[in-house]
Amino acid sequence: MRGRIALAAILLLCSSGCALSERYVRDGALETAPQHEGGAPHSVILMGDAGEPAADRLDPVFAALRADLGRAHTQARPRLVVFLGDNVYPNGVPWRGHPDYSEARRRLEEQIRILEGFPSASALFISGNHDWRGVADDGTKGPGEEARLVEELARARNVKAQFEPAIAPGAMAPTRVVGEPRYCGPLAVVPVDTTLWIRELTKARWSDSGSESAVAAVSERIGQELKVAVDRARERPEHPLVIVAGHHTLESYGNHGAQFSWKDHLFFLGNGFDEGDYLPLPILGSLYVLIRGSGVMPLQDDQFSQPGRRFRASLEQALKLSRPLAYACGHEHALQILRKDGLPWLLVSGAGYFRTRAPHVEAGPLTVAASPRSGYLRIDAWSTREIELVLMEVSDDGTRVESRWRMAE
Ligand SMILES: [Fe+2]
Repeated sequence: MRGRIALAAILLLCSSGCALSERYVRDGALETAPQHEGGAPHSVILMGDAGEPAADRLDPVFAALRADLGRAHTQARPRLVVFLGDNVYPNGVPWRGHPDYSEARRRLEEQIRILEGFPSASALFISGNHDWRGVADDGTKGPGEEARLVEELARARNVKAQFEPAIAPGAMAPTRVVGEPRYCGPLAVVPVDTTLWIRELTKARWSDSGSESAVAAVSERIGQELKVAVDRARERPEHPLVIVAGHHTLESYGNHGAQFSWKDHLFFLGNGFDEGDYLPLPILGSLYVLIRGSGVMPLQDDQFSQPGRRFRASLEQALKLSRPLAYACGHEHALQILRKDGLPWLLVSGAGYFRTRAPHVEAGPLTVAASPRSGYLRIDAWSTREIELVLMEVSDDGTRVESRWRMAE
């Protein structure tokens, strides 16, 4: 019996995919961008999962982004930084007076301060599942406090920052999945709250009239709302290239996409943390990985759970309808550039604060480039409609390594 268990554990460990330890670029999938002569671009920076920055120093990723904004500032070119959710780990911003409030405030303030002193830069905050953590169905808890704090901190620091979709004064949650577009020269960003999207689909599934047709009706409605927002953004005189920005992944080759490392099998209690009490629990760990990967756990934030599958089908349909340039998200703590037939560029940028423990990420069938390092993605656009995609990897000392590729519409 003991031998069989050991054999099963070995088989499970062997079935773990091959984790990337450095940047991966699929041969021939991307064209390196040449040095530009024609002035500075407008840029949208995609920065996800930045909600746990270092407390004892300026976080290296934040330092790198500040240097990036500083360079753009001297070129007098606007930059829009999109914080793609999970802006405050682990439970969003609690009510004022809660023991965790001051630390939550610090984490958010560090993000706002990245833009301090750069009037040509602005920020857009979108909520993620951690910002919604502990939300009540009656709407009495939610990202509302975070939205108000973003506004307050931005005003105090003289930074342009907004939370989208907007939350009404006094309310705790947005009522619409699709927010107002934001513009940066020839680029536009249409924000979506994917946590609310998943919740609306799930509510339809379990409503009194709960059926697949009720889910389809909600999916259709959100898809139409997204199309209207994307079309409206394109109507501007610049005919902007549109990026839809949310939090949850459509595709990913990390833990949320059911890819696990041998460390996840052994130390599942420490999964996802930079530091942790790594108690080896090999059998339990493998069982956890097996069950989580099978999608039977009701984790709405995993791709293969029932809520996750429902959301991904809905998102895919909406993207095919509205046809933006890219869908950008965070959630998975790695940098991934993915291409899938009939869909826009799929950009995963969830490495927004410096992590000493690299996340598990693999090169899957849709991967054209990926990195397990901390950092962010950036889209640069010139008035000639030339577009480039930048993968920015950041080291512990704040040094940056930029990889630039042409980005076709
Ligand atoms: Fe997340």
